[in-house]
Amino acid sequence: MASIRWLVFCALACLITVQASHSSSFGLSKRSWEKGQPITVPLALDASGRPVVHVNMHFGLAISTGTGYTMVAGSQCDSCSGVPTYNASKSTTAQSLAGARSVAMLNNTVDGPLYKEDCGMQTMSGGVWAYPNMTIVVANASMPVFSDGVSGVLGLGTNSRQGNFSDTIFGAYLGEDNGATSFQYGMALDAPDNSTNDGGVLHLLSPDGSAYTGNVSWKGVQQASSNADGTGLTSDWIIDLDGWSFAGGSGSISNTQGGSCTVDPYYPNVYIPQNLANEIYGSISGASQISDASAHAIAWTVPCDTKMSFTAVFGSESFTVDQSILVINQGDRCIGGIEGWSDSSLTGYLFGARFLSEVYV
Ligand SMILES: *[C@@H]1O[C@H](CO)[C@@H](O)[C@H](O)[C@H]1NC(C)=O
Ligand SMILES: *[C@@H]1O[C@H](CO)[C@@H](O)[C@H](O)[C@H]1NC(C)=O
Ligand SMILES: *[C@@H]1O[C@H](CO)[C@@H](O)[C@H](O)[C@H]1NC(C)=O
Ligand SMILES: *[C@@H]1O[C@H](CO)[C@@H](O)[C@H](O)[C@H]1NC(C)=O
Ligand SMILES: *[C@@H]1O[C@H](CO)[C@@H](O)[C@H](O)[C@H]1NC(C)=O
Ligand SMILES: *[C@@H]1O[C@H](CO)[C@@H](O)[C@H](O)[C@H]1NC(C)=O
Ligand SMILES: *[C@@H]1O[C@H](CO)[C@@H](O)[C@H](O)[C@H]1NC(C)=O
Repeated sequence: MASIRWLVFCALACLITVQASHSSSFGLSKRSWEKGQPITVPLALDASGRPVVHVNMHFGLAISTGTGYTMVAGSQCDSCSGVPTYNASKSTTAQSLAGARSVAMLNNTVDGPLYKEDCGMQTMSGGVWAYPNMTIVVANASMPVFSDGVSGVLGLGTNSRQGNFSDTIFGAYLGEDNGATSFQYGMALDAPDNSTNDGGVLHLLSPDGSAYTGNVSWKGVQQASSNADGTGLTSDWIIDLDGWSFAGGSGSISNTQGGSCTVDPYYPNVYIPQNLANEIYGSISGASQISDASAHAIAWTVPCDTKMSFTAVFGSESFTVDQSILVINQGDRCIGGIEGWSDSSLTGYLFGARFLSEVYV
């Protein structure tokens, strides 16, 4: 972690100043935030390696930049894999909103009615960062999202592709009468790893200057229409990857073309166009293809002593991950952390938690 580096993506939406239309100061007294000091929120890892925040005591929610909505399994969902569920009628602070929301997630949709609820994230100091009147989607049907004890998703996206910015944590915060004109956050993630359940930390309201070294690379977030990212997924955080290189096996591969790159810690690995993944593993002797149905991708088993490094170029900075991140030892076999999309027409990239664990975003 000592060499953790800084890579910043500035979402345009974070600069939007939402007019504070109500002067309620509800919940504000709970925030003892000293300007410039981040609220540090610890992340746990679930069994499938997703970074998880604890909200309102009972709920472990996986973080995702793919959506700005917070979604939780409702108590009427009788097939939500035994995860803790949310029953609005047991809450004294829930307000039912008219209408329902269908939120794209995991190449699928989570459907359900909308509620407003007062939420609070558990912080590192043992306190709670309260964020009242949050819009939540209460799902009534089972989804792969609700598994491994995870009750839902905490969206860290902007809803720029789908939905309403005011329904995001940022929009809600900026809509309060607190004088805030922007909401910044940082992620210092740990790589998904079965030997620990420590997923790193989120820094809310301010990045933590001590969490990174080196130069900052700024990238604008693409404001393209949905699904223009070439990954088949809906996402709010898509930036330009300016190129990459791979070293290992029988030689090195260099790509100066890059492409659209979705950044989302909900997914564990690095996903790239299928032909390029074929090229990478074609250079590694003993690599053999397997399916990764959970991400609609193709993965490869590799010899456990494979040496490889993958360098991604964003603007003037480049960021390298090596075999310590890219060769995943599952006990009985080793798997490469770079995968190819099953759908060979997809041209986009997706960088998940494994890559993000080497940078500060
Ligand atoms: C939700 O809570 C209400 C009030 O306690 C209870 O009557 C109802 O059975 C609960 N619903 C489910 C599906 O558990
Ligand atoms: C789930 O919620 C949606 C939106 O409110 C609704 O259209 C759908 O009928 C509900 N499904 C079930 C099984 O309750
Ligand atoms: C919460 O949001 C709803 C809908 O936007 C609004 O009607 C209500 O006044 C808000 N409540 C508080 C306490 O801000
Ligand atoms: C957007 O969300 C806010 C807060 O939940 C709500 O007050 C507003 O009506 C929503 N706008 C639309 C167009 O849905
Ligand atoms: C930061 O950028 C400057 C100017 O491009 C360069 O001289 C310097 O070596 C960089 N520092 C690091 C730590 O990469
Ligand atoms: C999303 O689902 C569609 C239809 O099932 C499929 O063709 C596409 O490849 C999927 N995309 C991804 C990234 O899984
Ligand atoms: C972690 O353990 C689970 C269950 O044993 C296994 O399915 C999964 O592939 C492992 N993940 C990694 C990254 O080793």
